[in-house]
Amino acid sequence: MIVRTPPMGWNSWNTFGWNINEELIKTTADAMVENGLLDAGYQYLVIDDCWAERVRDKNHRLVPSREKFPNGMKAVADYVHSKGLKFGMYSCSGTLTCAGFPSSYEYEFIDAETFASWGVDYLKYDYCFKPQHEEGHLLYKRMGMALANCGRDILFSACSWGADETHKWIKTTGAHMWRSTGDISDNWNSIKSLYEKQAELQPFNGKGCFNDMDMLVVGMGGKGNVALGGCTVEEYRTHFSIWAFFNSPLIIGCDVREMKPETIHILTNKDIIAINQDPAQRQPFMANGLHGNSVWCKELEGGDLAVGMFNMTDNNQIPYFIFSDIGLNRSAGRALEITDLWTGQKLGVFRDQYRARLIGPHESIVLRCKLVKE
Ligand code: GLA
Repeated sequence: MIVRTPPMGWNSWNTFGWNINEELIKTTADAMVENGLLDAGYQYLVIDDCWAERVRDKNHRLVPSREKFPNGMKAVADYVHSKGLKFGMYSCSGTLTCAGFPSSYEYEFIDAETFASWGVDYLKYDYCFKPQHEEGHLLYKRMGMALANCGRDILFSACSWGADETHKWIKTTGAHMWRSTGDISDNWNSIKSLYEKQAELQPFNGKGCFNDMDMLVVGMGGKGNVALGGCTVEEYRTHFSIWAFFNSPLIIGCDVREMKPETIHILTNKDIIAINQDPAQRQPFMANGLHGNSVWCKELEGGDLAVGMFNMTDNNQIPYFIFSDIGLNRSAGRALEITDLWTGQKLGVFRDQYRARLIGPHESIVLRCKLVKE
């Protein structure tokens, strides 16, 4: 299975944590379709930790919680599939999951076959309770082999939080995406620290195995399992813009059954999603990192450029970039025709440099630029 663009979907953890059940998953599937998320590209519905019984069955197979999922997982998967979505689940490479449920260590091949028999299309695979004598890369390799041989295409989402220098070995496993950072929480400091960490890890991202900056907190509004303060709408917009710009998987974490209009507006911006899903998946680079003026550029398939201006500071800013800083010197004889992707406004044709409008703390501007003859 080859994954060419960052996976998009929804995951239960950020909002619901332990508090999951069949009804929640079904109503979430309905809402993903009704609210236009599936149409926008959010394809995977993923159940995170806390779905299992504490004990395996007599054949050593994992058993879904009888209370939370009384009809078993196949029934849930069938419902999710009937909506045109794909179905994801969670396990862990250690002896227990992070929340203390049975995990796949030394049951990898049995579990991969169980997931395949339920109709699972995506497996998030965590790193808690790793036995000390084991090497992490071997545990991911083993599950990678189990999934590749289970008879079903299952996207392998590794979640070792960047620990043990994951970036050095993750592409030797079967992983299609890998958590390059620690857990997100719903506040600006968390978003900023994940951005800073990820900025260094850009060279390791790419088609086939994507750097995963963790699930989105857009729209959580300070409510739910990882809510620690909440963010403003502008901060959510910046968070989404950065994740999209950095080619991270876009996995929604809010309650999609109760989204405010501004949440839907952020999560379904087709132009921003197009930058994330660009077929070339080129590495973004910093165009001007001086004085907290974090301007990033990315070459897109077809010749356009994306420019992301992220105000990570606590002050107002007038972000700018000079075209020679992205390799477009005067001698090229090209100007940039610039569109603002959040307002939809065509800003005009610019030569030599672009100075944006004044933006507040934590705000951002994302541009799409077409090269035109001067
Ligand atoms: C770890 C992961 C989270 C979530 C929890 C579940 O902390 O990084 O994303 O899956 O485990 O227990």
